[in-house]
Amino acid sequence: MDNFQFYNPTRIIFGKGTIAKLSKRVPRNARVLLLYGGGSIKQNGVYDQVMTALKNHHVREFGGIESNPDYSTLMKAVQLVRKKEIDFLLAVGGGSVIDGAKFISLAARYTEGDPWDILAKGVAKKLKKAIPLGVVLTLPATGSEMNHNSVISRRETGEKLSFGSDKVFPKFSILDPETTYSLPEKQVRNGLVDAFVHVLEQYLTYPVGAVVQDRQAEALLMGLMEMAPKAMRQPADYDARANYMWACTNALNHLIGMGVPQDWSTHSIGHELTALYGLDHAESLAVVLPWLLWHQRRQKKAKLLQMGYRVFEIKCQKYDERINRTLEALSAFFHSLGMPTTLTAYGIDPEEAAEKVAQRFEQQGWGKGENHDIQAADVAAILRLSR
Ligand code: NZQ
Ligand code: ZN
Repeated sequence: MDNFQFYNPTRIIFGKGTIAKLSKRVPRNARVLLLYGGGSIKQNGVYDQVMTALKNHHVREFGGIESNPDYSTLMKAVQLVRKKEIDFLLAVGGGSVIDGAKFISLAARYTEGDPWDILAKGVAKKLKKAIPLGVVLTLPATGSEMNHNSVISRRETGEKLSFGSDKVFPKFSILDPETTYSLPEKQVRNGLVDAFVHVLEQYLTYPVGAVVQDRQAEALLMGLMEMAPKAMRQPADYDARANYMWACTNALNHLIGMGVPQDWSTHSIGHELTALYGLDHAESLAVVLPWLLWHQRRQKKAKLLQMGYRVFEIKCQKYDERINRTLEALSAFFHSLGMPTTLTAYGIDPEEAAEKVAQRFEQQGWGKGENHDIQAADVAAILRLSR
């Protein structure tokens, strides 16, 4: 096992009726900015619960943070934060709103340079000042509610970049599974697939004897597959939604990635596909992952065999056959959720995507994956398979 330091200061407040706890968690004298997305919280009662809990607080609002939050939208919020001297951010929504809040948290306090450098030039790591933030999660998927990552898009330049900073861990995150009852089936599907891929990016590399992390990852994969049918088809099944929510948080709260090699190449390629073609985040992952694993099956052989045996119960002794069947089982799981696994399913030409994404990798000099060996030519080969 590799050396590691684990740090996660986010308080999780989980369960029915927990939005009311906001009144105690948000500092009484704070000037609060409530951040939200396109308005789902105003239709499903979450907004009313938040405002009731904060009726004795000083709260302003900034809505309209879109999926794959855009830099230009967030910079409007940054101006508002500075002008109104906001000193607490409350993100109410899914990964896009939370990631947006994390960016605003750093950008509003960063006056020494161009805020885009937080993403493009790795400035995030150096910044010491941030506005504290809290979260009310309404869409289990990204794990953003309990991690230090943020992914921001800039449509005017066709970029989608990420940063990580310990300064933007939420102070608390409220996870009430009942807030998810209003989710469209497609978003539940997206959340399940995103979380599944998060686990795989931390598990499916090469063995380093990390028994605990491997078993935790396998538990999450098996748990996600077990709960998926109910979570998808019975919106008001509290236990299914509670398990779905907690699994997604655990899939990317840094714990299972401690002391083990990590990959993240599916995410890197996926972000480019979202920037180019507007695919939902999880959709972009599902059209890459099966083909990337096929392409990297030699490097990932030991872990693919382990996953096949333990997670999918494919026990045949012919290793090539076990890997083939494992990859088939993985795609079959995605298909059972109604999640396509090819670019062509979205009318995207794999040849064109291969060329464009490979060019980006070339320009940036990226070598991704646990061995940094997934380079431009490999990306092109992977995307050509997605037909
Ligand atoms: O905007 P509103 O009206 O709220 O509607 C949203 C949005 O349209 C809707 N929604 C959310 N909660 C709902 C609801 N609709 C009904 N009922 C509810 N309870 O769902 C739609 C999608 O929301 P969004 O926040 O965009 O989805 P998600 O949570 O999947 O976040 C995606 C973003 O997170 C980034 C992605 O790249 C993408 O930008 N990621 C962030 C990560 C992180 N911070 O660690 C890791 C991930 O790998 C990912 O990259
Ligand atoms: Zn993801």
